[in-house]
Amino acid sequence: MRIKRNTYQKICHVIASNIRDLVKHHDFSVLGLATGSTPIGIYKELSYMKDTDFSNTLTYNLDEYVGLDKHHSQSYEHFMNKHLFGKLTFHSNHFPTEKLLPYYDAMIENSKGIDIQILGIGTNGHIAFNEPGTPRDSKSRIVDLTENTIKDNSRFFDSMDEVPTQARTMGIDTIMKSKRIYLIAHGKHKKDILEKAINGDITPEIPASFLQEHPNCEIYYSE
Ligand code: GLP
Repeated sequence: MRIKRNTYQKICHVIASNIRDLVKHHDFSVLGLATGSTPIGIYKELSYMKDTDFSNTLTYNLDEYVGLDKHHSQSYEHFMNKHLFGKLTFHSNHFPTEKLLPYYDAMIENSKGIDIQILGIGTNGHIAFNEPGTPRDSKSRIVDLTENTIKDNSRFFDSMDEVPTQARTMGIDTIMKSKRIYLIAHGKHKKDILEKAINGDITPEIPASFLQEHPNCEIYYSE
């Protein structure tokens, strides 16, 4: 697999434009969306696209912390409202809430699957909250977060003790069923893990490495 390198702005522009083209040329589209600092630039680009009608587009977010109210400043629902949903109106936006989690995979399937899935990558190679050791056939479920992830994500909280220790996440199996995937890694601290995930062995120890088996996945890196 080839890693496409460019500036962060250019990558976000390309991905956002591809999303716009999908939405413009289809009566109905389904997006899989990620949180974290990396996709913010994509959402910024999308939010400028006022001439595009997203009212026939459904969104499914990848993950959400367990134990944080949706109004909590660090909940992923709050993040999405702030960066995208407060600026662009979609048909409907879905999160793996406690109530929806048992039906999440079936809901996505009933929506005819995800047309474009945006992914970031954790410094331990996780995608969504599928931590090292996750099998290829994993479905949407509750997971325990690793210490590495809790530490990485503590930068958004006042202290490490405040970071939730569990999350609800889309599974690898569901992610792999997406018709097209764009993974974006931003920053030198992601360089090594990205290289291992994309050009190393395919292993549950690096969940992002399963993407090597996806027929329509593009990998982007910016320093
Ligand atoms: C979180 C999310 C992931 C995301 C990762 C990287 O753990 N669950 O979906 O890819 O963070 O985040 P960042 O883009 O901030 O480095």
